[in-house]
Amino acid sequence: MLDAAVRRDVAIAVDAGSIAAVGALGDIERDYPDAERVDCGGRILTPGLVDSHTHAVFGRPRHDEQELRAAGAGYMEIAQKGGGIHSSVRDLRARSEDDLLALARARLVRLARYGATTVEVKSGYGLTVEDELKSLRVVARLQAETSLRLVPTWLGGHEIPREFRERAEGRHEYVEQLVHEQLPRVVAERLATFADVFCEPGVFTLAETRTILDAARAGGLLLKLHADELEPAGGAELAADLGATSADHLAAISQAGVSALAASDTVATLLPGTMLFLGRTRQAPARELIDAGAVVALATDFNPGTSPTPNLPLMMTLGVSQLHMSVAEALLATTVNGAAALGLAGSTGQIAPGFSADLAMWDCEDVREIPYWYGDARCAATWCRGEPVRMV
Ligand code: NIG
Ligand code: FE
Repeated sequence: MLDAAVRRDVAIAVDAGSIAAVGALGDIERDYPDAERVDCGGRILTPGLVDSHTHAVFGRPRHDEQELRAAGAGYMEIAQKGGGIHSSVRDLRARSEDDLLALARARLVRLARYGATTVEVKSGYGLTVEDELKSLRVVARLQAETSLRLVPTWLGGHEIPREFRERAEGRHEYVEQLVHEQLPRVVAERLATFADVFCEPGVFTLAETRTILDAARAGGLLLKLHADELEPAGGAELAADLGATSADHLAAISQAGVSALAASDTVATLLPGTMLFLGRTRQAPARELIDAGAVVALATDFNPGTSPTPNLPLMMTLGVSQLHMSVAEALLATTVNGAAALGLAGSTGQIAPGFSADLAMWDCEDVREIPYWYGDARCAATWCRGEPVRMV
């Protein structure tokens, strides 16, 4: 499959940000005599990678929790004591939009250096109307200055904030705030394409997730779920039932969840870096999902708590070495299927006429080297909509 997809000695013509033609160098030079020429020196070109799941707007790193986990503390246990997402929430609320913008800008540069040209970015560390809007405005302002393609996701349903958890009626009140205060502002200010909810025992229930996402869909947003990350709880089934664009994580998906995703158009977005960093041995059942007919994407989950890596090729490595995917499947998972996870399957993720000129050039002779040199930074350059992406 991989060899059939690899073409040698080709040139790509780019016109007005889109791929106009892919063909033999002689033919392209004849058809586009005035084009500016970029010589890739015989190196590998792939579609620009698509990182379809990141939480790139946050303040301080949370390296303290890594050691706590090494000493035996659980992810949920740390959160219940006010650490985890709550700790990032306290930190983000205290920061200005400009401060967050500078931090997120530097983090996007790191994601781009590893080959991503399309990056989904979630809010979710604000958890008040103003702090969620502040986070999403950071994404909108960055989109205005970067040549990367950013896809903004509202994740007000990332946690029940501490101040609501303390009251019996708090959970219900926060869901009300999400639906009646946060969501209408996000929609009115056109700050998000997607809505996402952390649907997990101890965080949002299936019923709460459905309430929030039904409202988001009615407001015109596309849907994503953090589903079955740590415990199987029917998140994948709910994602399929809601017609969500993607269900993400799935390390603890049930057999019924695999069948539900396989029978749906919902992309299964797997985040193997998260399980690696949390020190968990169970990874999402990529093989079962693919063999059952599900569409599988891989993403970094770049965030300060569970996956502080900007390295999407490393997720391809984990896809192959830990999740038993082929290199072709891992490459599809970070291009075509990543694009599908963002509703962009018709516009990015492929080197073909009509697609956006989103390209990544690699210091490799064989495409199999991308997941092979694991952890290495082999991406030499990227272009998004035909524009070089700034790597500094
Ligand atoms: O995708 N699972 C929920 N959200 C993030 C982690 C967020 C955090 O710990 O800061 C995730 O793993
Ligand atoms: Fe996540």
